[in-house]
Amino acid sequence: MRIDVISLFPEFVAQCAGFGVVGRAQERGLLALHGWNPRDYAEGNYRRVDDRPFGGGPGMVMLIDPLRACLQAARAADPTPAHVVYLSPQGQPLTQAKVRELAGRERLVLLCGRYEGVDERLVQAEVDEELSIGDYVLSGGELAAAVVVDAVARLQEGALNDAESAAQDSFEDGLLDCPHYTRPVEHALGKVPDVLLSGNHADIARWRRMQALGRTFLRRPDLLDPATLAPADRRLLDEFLARQGGEPGAGT
Ligand code: ADE
Repeated sequence: MRIDVISLFPEFVAQCAGFGVVGRAQERGLLALHGWNPRDYAEGNYRRVDDRPFGGGPGMVMLIDPLRACLQAARAADPTPAHVVYLSPQGQPLTQAKVRELAGRERLVLLCGRYEGVDERLVQAEVDEELSIGDYVLSGGELAAAVVVDAVARLQEGALNDAESAAQDSFEDGLLDCPHYTRPVEHALGKVPDVLLSGNHADIARWRRMQALGRTFLRRPDLLDPATLAPADRRLLDEFLARQGGEPGAGT
């Protein structure tokens, strides 16, 4: 997969992507990351990339032409057609389902805005979709682009060492992940739950599912409507809540 990042600070995204799973994915040739700076395509002595907004108000807006020339150069660097994503707080929320969809594409261009954003005419003409990484405002799209690169890179075939780990991630089945424990069994901070030491794989899977359901219900009720759960999952959720001392039947 190829990802081109268009940013006034392309090195920032490249640095973020240099470590761990994403760094390894690049070394393994699973991901090729390229940075492009619109300032290199700006005219004049000052290489201006922004100007004041029409209609007044604070901040600056990124100019069409340097961005457009930069985007054209990025597109032309490889014959593979690119899906262009603009990172902004006005975009659709990034979800694991969206990450899976992006990860399946051959080529992405990630467009990072700074200041108040980019001229809307460029967005309309060149951008395929606008994505947000959350309901908060960053000072630029670079951190959001780094988030997309990371989430997409780890889903590339061969990026993770344990083939199972992506499938077991939070959100892959619409639920939060269950808690995890490692050695020592006994610690001043507590003991590992007995079931995880039992060696009974069915019991362990059942316990993990129950924890995932319970945590999702308590922490992210927006993700889980008990009324739509399969009967077996509903029983697990009820059991979780009963064990918690929560209201019995709250999961029904
Ligand atoms: N740029 C600034 N804030 C952002 C956000 N929340 N998501 C994506 N890009 C952004």
